[in-house]
Amino acid sequence: MFLSFEGVDGSGKTTQASLLAEALRADGREVVATREPGGTRLGEEVRELLLEGVEMSAWAETTLFAAARAELAERVIAPALAAGNDVVCDRYIDSSLAYQGIARGLGLERVLELNLTVTNGLLPDRTFLVLVDPGVAFERTKRSDRIELEGEAFHRAVDEAYRSLAEMFPERITTVDGNRPAEEVAEEIRGRLRELS
Ligand code: TYD
Repeated sequence: MFLSFEGVDGSGKTTQASLLAEALRADGREVVATREPGGTRLGEEVRELLLEGVEMSAWAETTLFAAARAELAERVIAPALAAGNDVVCDRYIDSSLAYQGIARGLGLERVLELNLTVTNGLLPDRTFLVLVDPGVAFERTKRSDRIELEGEAFHRAVDEAYRSLAEMFPERITTVDGNRPAEEVAEEIRGRLRELS
């Protein structure tokens, strides 16, 4: 099973991704946990360029995220799934749809098409979108990388974008209320997953 976690910076999705990976392992499943951008040697280098690097155009940014994703999909995710493992990914295609396609205004369809091309159409079986009050999330972020340094208006636009993606893809994206203690959110996610399988 391929599972991804999404949410704005400061939503707590990284904590939830690792709690779910741990819970699946405790059930005796083999889990490959990975993150975007990154998760491969090339991906980690591209991550540096994207997050610590120079200013860049929106399409340059989008294609670099896509390059890191292509590498991860082909070298890590697809082989793990083929070997019968579960994959838990902290961010995937929906991040590009929300941040680049919608919030940066490049167009959802074009960014989706690019990403489906470079991943050979590999989409998660289920995506958990952790929703929190965008003001609270913004306060929580360290504002330590190039994208986190965008203003609050951009992060609100990303939050809106995620909410509309959840409406567009209700059969794949499950929203969870992240304005609660992490363990409570994790319990809900495990319950939702049990309902699905
Ligand atoms: P992330 O690793 O989640 O940040 P951190 O671990 O520091 O909280 O993501 C890095 C940033 O990249 C984040 O601001 C979201 C952004 N991003 C995009 O804009 N598009 C993408 O496709 C991905 C994967 C991330």
